[in-house]
Amino acid sequence: MKISVFGLGYVGSVSAGCLARDGHHVIGVDVNSAKVDALVNGRSLVSEPGLSELVAAHSKTGRLRATTDGFQAVLATDMSLICVGTPSNSNGSLNLDYIEAVCREIGTALGQHSGYHLVCVRSTVLPGTTRNMVMQVLEQQSGKRAGTDFGLCMNPEFLREGCAIADYQEPSQIVMGGLDEKSSDIAMQMYDGIDALRIRTTLETAESVKYACNTFHALKVAYANEIGNICQAHNVDGQEVMRIFCNDRKLNVSEKYLLPGFAFGGSCLPKDCRALVYRAKEKDVETPLLRAVLESNQMQIERSIRMVEQTDHKRIGVLGLSFKSGTDDVRESPVIVLVETLVGRGYDVQIYDPNVKPEELFGANRSFLAQTLPHVAKLMQPDVDALVANCDVLVVTNGSEEFRQAVLAADGSKMIIDLHGITKHSKEYNGNYKGICW
Ligand SMILES: NC(=O)c1ccc[n+]([C@@H]2O[C@H](COP(=O)([O-])OP(=O)(O)OC[C@H]3O[C@@H](n4cnc5c(N)ncnc54)[C@H](O)[C@@H]3O)[C@@H](O)[C@H]2O)c1
Repeated sequence: MKISVFGLGYVGSVSAGCLARDGHHVIGVDVNSAKVDALVNGRSLVSEPGLSELVAAHSKTGRLRATTDGFQAVLATDMSLICVGTPSNSNGSLNLDYIEAVCREIGTALGQHSGYHLVCVRSTVLPGTTRNMVMQVLEQQSGKRAGTDFGLCMNPEFLREGCAIADYQEPSQIVMGGLDEKSSDIAMQMYDGIDALRIRTTLETAESVKYACNTFHALKVAYANEIGNICQAHNVDGQEVMRIFCNDRKLNVSEKYLLPGFAFGGSCLPKDCRALVYRAKEKDVETPLLRAVLESNQMQIERSIRMVEQTDHKRIGVLGLSFKSGTDDVRESPVIVLVETLVGRGYDVQIYDPNVKPEELFGANRSFLAQTLPHVAKLMQPDVDALVANCDVLVVTNGSEEFRQAVLAADGSKMIIDLHGITKHSKEYNGNYKGICW
């Protein structure tokens, strides 16, 4: 392919070098003439292991060229990769000035381009930017239509500085957000020969994945540091603790607990978060992240309450009372807070949970129920069909297959509030469906 790479910083230089190595004809474009001159002379001003060699080799083969003239570069190529910087503004918002400038330049050239050209955003941009800003500027400047006259993709970059070329060669995955199938098909050809999981998705999902990744990486560092600081205050080696922690690939370093949905609860997580935060306070260790966990969880419960309130219905059927499916443990179940609040605000609530039979609960579980929701027995409905018949809104709180069947049987006649995702995509529900995070 013939590819223009706009922005010869870390991402652009590495992409340009690797694309040339993989057989593509690349024109690097930058407003900084020093970077362009260096590349023209077979050097890179970006310091990355292996990059100098790639640049030197492929400026000789002629597959890697550079210019400050973006207009001509677009006319001479089939695809433009946007790799310019997206720094922070002083208030923390994302500065899109470089993206906008480069889109104007590409758009102007697109207006003169005789064939189909694809524009692919590799810079990190917030959800909606590619469709609402990049596409609009390109269309305005070129007078052409995205999807018909030119293609549009968002392909987030996951490389790490210091091992960027190795990461390019062996990416954890290739995520291609496309305006349409044709755009994604063409953009994916960049990576022919690279062995990796390929994901095709929407522009907005691709943009969001990048932020999910980077904020998670940041969260991991901050979390490990807080745990380490608490460990040190107990004369425990925090690094050893986290090494052992990482041995658990089943629950800790795994897919578990990473699907958005309802709040956590149960007899352990809330209690243990509280205890550790309290102990840290006693030891004068600051744990802003751990302190925020329970608050964030509470916000998720409040979000579910607002979802019910926004339906403007009063008869609410709640599917599931325990904190997760397949257990009768109701201690600190977030559903109890949801139910209590709704009852307190005058809603007519019924609950169905085949695992929870108040008359059969024992010990701590029973006293928890008695204390937090004394009238729960009155709200429990043993027959799921009767509960569905008696309500206008069904709230699905966990992933029980029985609940999914109950929602399907309601056949769009009830408003569905899905806090788990089990009934997602099952049906259209006549538009009577709301998911908590989707
Ligand atoms: N650095 C990383 O490790 C990394 C990893 C993944 C994603 N990203 C994202 O990729 C993007 C680029 O990051 P970077 O670190 O390579 O940035 P950088 O600041 O190193 O390079 C950006 C380059 O764009 C050039 N530029 C600015 N305006 C231009 C224009 N109108 N035309 C042509 N070139 C122009 C600049 O001169 C500069 O050389 C950012 O959105 C960043 O968040 C960076």
